[in-house]
Amino acid sequence: MATPNTLWLGLVLLGTLGVLQMPAQASVQPNFQEDKFLGRWFTSGLASNSSWFLEKKKMLSMCISLVAAAPDGGFNLTSTFLRKDQCVTRTLMLRPTGTPGCYSYTSPHGGGNHEVSVVETDYENYALLYTESARSPGQDFRMATLYSRTQAPGAEAKEKFTAFAEAQGFTEDNIVFPPRNDKCLEERE
Ligand SMILES: *[C@@H]1O[C@H](CO)[C@@H](O)[C@H](O)[C@H]1NC(C)=O
Ligand SMILES: *[C@@H]1O[C@H](CO)[C@@H](O)[C@H](O)[C@H]1NC(C)=O
Repeated sequence: MATPNTLWLGLVLLGTLGVLQMPAQASVQPNFQEDKFLGRWFTSGLASNSSWFLEKKKMLSMCISLVAAAPDGGFNLTSTFLRKDQCVTRTLMLRPTGTPGCYSYTSPHGGGNHEVSVVETDYENYALLYTESARSPGQDFRMATLYSRTQAPGAEAKEKFTAFAEAQGFTEDNIVFPPRNDKCLEERE
């Protein structure tokens, strides 16, 4: 017979298991304000240890991203970047996870689920983002991103990003500040 104590224990265990099954989350900007995060950002720093990234990193250039509010409480993240001499635009739909500043999306490459967190931002100059694959066997993708409101992130933002990336375990060789490429940096709606 279930006594109040065993019921309580069951709830605690279930609760704990529920937490254990959730993917690990990076820390998130406290009191994240979604409306202040909207608008135009430039991807001006990237860090990853994926072999794809390390192969391509010298060819990457800065890209422009527009963050728009989506009806489900998430964001549409529309990025324009240069690929094979052409500007390509892609939209990622970031779904809310219940934690403001933390979103999930399905990767257009291979369809895996990823989580992205706005770890730190002042909304007006910079944002530090951390992305990782939702925990499942064989997936270990992790990336740190520096967003800046202008095409010229200041030295301070770059230093912040380097320290942040290194704190996530990335090495100097994993970090790149992609150069500007005027071709695809105009704003489009
Ligand atoms: C990237 O680093 C993580 C640990 O930080 C490691 O588990 C993973 O295997 C690394 N990936 C590559 C492609 O080296
Ligand atoms: C978000 O993006 C999707 C796919 O591109 C599009 O269908 C939808 O209308 C967009 N929503 C907003 C609010 O921009």
